[in-house]
Amino acid sequence: MHREDFPMLKQDIVYFDNGATSLKPQVMIDAMVDYYSNHTANIHRGDYDAAIKTDALYDEAREVVKNFIHAESSREIVFTSGMTDGMNRIVFGFMRHHLKAGDEVLISKAEHASCAIPWYVLQKELGIVVRSVPLDSEHQLTVSNLEAMITPRTKVISIAHITNVIGDVRDVVKIGEIAEKHHIYFVVDAAQSVSHVPVDVLEMKASFLVFSGHKMLGPTGVGVLYGKLSLLEEMKPLSYGGGMNEFFEATGEYDVREVPVRFEAGTPPIAEVIGLSRAIQYIESIGVLKIHAHEVELKNYLVSALSKIPNIVLYNKNSESGILAFNIRGVFSQDTAVYLNHYHIYIRAGNHCSKMLKDDLNIKNTCRVSMHLYNTKEDVDKLVCALKNSEDIFKIIL
Ligand code: ALA
Repeated sequence: MHREDFPMLKQDIVYFDNGATSLKPQVMIDAMVDYYSNHTANIHRGDYDAAIKTDALYDEAREVVKNFIHAESSREIVFTSGMTDGMNRIVFGFMRHHLKAGDEVLISKAEHASCAIPWYVLQKELGIVVRSVPLDSEHQLTVSNLEAMITPRTKVISIAHITNVIGDVRDVVKIGEIAEKHHIYFVVDAAQSVSHVPVDVLEMKASFLVFSGHKMLGPTGVGVLYGKLSLLEEMKPLSYGGGMNEFFEATGEYDVREVPVRFEAGTPPIAEVIGLSRAIQYIESIGVLKIHAHEVELKNYLVSALSKIPNIVLYNKNSESGILAFNIRGVFSQDTAVYLNHYHIYIRAGNHCSKMLKDDLNIKNTCRVSMHLYNTKEDVDKLVCALKNSEDIFKIIL
């Protein structure tokens, strides 16, 4: 779909590494170039035309994000540098001040480093207990397994909406209901879901939700932290400086501004916020449900073709997203990626920053195909053809 909108696709490539970062549509690039070429200015500081235009676009971006994820107020939208930044702010700006020794945080072994390590730091620092919900035989998180782990000490459920290797779409609406029933904070990593499936923070009763711009057709260096307003009011900034203070005096007195600007110290990523906003508008013009249906159709097409190749091992053929993890039996995943690169087919190989998943998969590294709206059946056919003829792999890569 819409391949002509993506300048990278003028090259003769098959781009299947959308879980790492997506390609960018020309309209998004144009919005950033327009800012740099025609109305460069800092925000909320200038009284001249370019500054007024830039202020308007930056402030509009918060509304665009708010509507896209169905938040109640644009004050619940904090611009960050990405999902990792967002998670760190939640853990160290909020949870550090709301949890105590013995409190339990539920995660899973399929979570990304950014959604596990900050909790482990707090475990060391505060004595909270991080517990992993067992995955099922398909390495997916089930609501019943999660519910069975809840104890009176459970204070946080922190999981991805869609995981980046297994690609299972978690039932966040049901999990959100359970979290609410037990008065548990619900933290959602939407890095792999936003732009692929609808994200509705109210429906999933999320306390906090984070994602990055660059995986959703937007620029690098920008992300979003959503937090319920009442929780953001209790969150501490991790950065102090210009733009976020109400006043400061030589006596050492200071005060911070209102939410969310108190969380955006210094000059924010202005061009990136404008680009992210344009990317969201582009996604909305197509429709997330349509994107999801397209990716699932392609994934099923790929699974059915690869299932017929005897030496291919598939790890997640039943997950309902455009992510497929596989290996050529007996071949190191990175060798497969290098081999596919020979045919200009771009995939990711390795542990995908989900280093605990090996305990469940019994293998450290996999190849991963991750789709987006511009992938086609022809892309899949090229990959399948290369994998079918992979007996020469070592001749090609050595
Ligand atoms: N987290 C990114 C991925 O899954 C980089 O590839």
